[in-house]
Amino acid sequence: MSNNQFLKIRQNLGFIGSSPALDQILRTIEQVASTNILVLINGESGTGKELVAKAIHALSDRKEGPFVVVNAGAIPEGIMESELFGHEKGSFTGAIGQRKGYFEIAEGGTIFLDEIGEMPLETQVRLLRVLENREILRVGGSASKSINVRIIAATNRDLLEDVHAGRFREDLYYRLNAVNVKVPSLRERKEDVPLLIHHFATEFCNQNRIEYGGFTDEAIDILINYGWPGNIRELKNFVESIIVMEKGMTIGSAAVRARLPVSDVRMNTQLPVHINRSNEELEREFLYRALFEIKNEIAQLREAVLGKYIMPNRRLMPGLNNIEKDQMDFVANDFGRIEEETEDVFPTVNQMEHELIYRALEKTGGNKRKAAVLLAISERTLYRKIKEYGLPF
Ligand SMILES: Nc1ncnc2c1ncn2[C@@H]1O[C@H](COP(=O)(O)OP(=O)(O)O)[C@@H](O)[C@H]1O
Ligand SMILES: [Mg+2]
Repeated sequence: MSNNQFLKIRQNLGFIGSSPALDQILRTIEQVASTNILVLINGESGTGKELVAKAIHALSDRKEGPFVVVNAGAIPEGIMESELFGHEKGSFTGAIGQRKGYFEIAEGGTIFLDEIGEMPLETQVRLLRVLENREILRVGGSASKSINVRIIAATNRDLLEDVHAGRFREDLYYRLNAVNVKVPSLRERKEDVPLLIHHFATEFCNQNRIEYGGFTDEAIDILINYGWPGNIRELKNFVESIIVMEKGMTIGSAAVRARLPVSDVRMNTQLPVHINRSNEELEREFLYRALFEIKNEIAQLREAVLGKYIMPNRRLMPGLNNIEKDQMDFVANDFGRIEEETEDVFPTVNQMEHELIYRALEKTGGNKRKAAVLLAISERTLYRKIKEYGLPF
C-alpha cells in the first residue's frame, strides 16, 4: 500500500500515530478486511482494539451492515447464551416472547466479541459450533438458522495461558486466532504520545470552543515517560480533563505532575518494577483502570451526544435535583457563549447521559435491550443508570 493510501485509511478510521507498530496493524487490517477470516485482537485495555475491529468492518463490503459490540465480561453468565443466540418463547422463566440474539442482530454485518476470555466454558462450546456450522440455535429452539456474520474477537488476557489453565477451550482458541492482531500498549509506542496529545487536545478544544494553549515541551516529556496503564483511553481522558481544569492555559510540567495518578508517577515504567509493587498499589491501579473504562463510556456518550443531538433544555429535565440545577446554571454561565442565541445551555455529562438514556427508552417503547443496543452500553449498565436517574421505565 502506498503512503498516501495509508494516510487516507488513517484519517478515515481515526487512527493517530506514526509508530511502525501502528503501520503494521493498518497493513493487517487492510489485508483481512475484504475476507471473512476470523481475527483475534490482543491488547491491554484502551489500546484501540475496538477501533481496529471497527476499521476492519468499515473497510469490508459489510460496511453498510451492522457492527454489533458484545462485551462478554458485561453480560451476566446466566443470560449469556440467550443474549448471543436469542431464545424462543417460554424457553426459561422470564422468556416471555421470543428474542433475537446479537448474532441475528448482526446479520449481514460484523459482531465484535469483546473480552472473549470472560466467556463461560459452556458458551464457548456453543460458540465453536456456531463458528463451524455458521448457524445458530436459539435457546429453547429446535430449528437452527444460518447466519451471515463476520466475527472478530478481542481480549486483554493471555488466552493461551487460559487454555493451559483450562479456562479457555483450545479448539476455540485456534479457531478464533486465524489472524492475530497484537495492539501494543502506549508504553511500547511512546513516539505516538505527542501526536495523540495534540490530536485529542485540538479536537476537544474545537468541539468545545476552547482556545488551545498547548503543552510545554517539559510537560510533553513527562507524559511521554508516564506509564499509561489505561493506554490511549486514559491519555484522551487525561488531555480533556486537564484542558478543562487549566481553562485553555498553556499546560506546564507542574500541572501535569499534579494531575497524573500518584502511584504511576512514582513508577518508572522503563524498569521492570511491577513485581515490587504492593498489593495496595496493584489494587489502586486496577481501580484506576475501572475508572478509566467508566469515564470513557461517558466520554464517548458525550461525544456522540454533542455531535449528533441538540443540547438538552433544562425545562425538559424535571428530574434534576438542586445540585444538578446549580451545576447547569454554573456551566451555563461558564460556557454560555456556546448557545447564546437560544435558551439552551451547555450540559454536564450526567445531564446528557440522563437525557440520552431517557430518549433511547422512549424511542424503543421502554425496551431495555433495544435501548442498550442503541446506546452501545450493556444492559446491565442501562439498568444501573435507570435506577440511578430514577427513570420511569
Ligand atoms: N491510534 C489511535 N488514534 C486515535 N485514537 C485512538 C487510537 N487507538 C485508540 N483510540 C481511541 O482510544 C479509545 C480507546 O480505544 P478502544 O478501541 O475502545 O480500546 P480497547 O477496545 O482496546 O479498550 C477510543 O476512544 C479510541 O477511539
Ligand atoms: Mg474495548
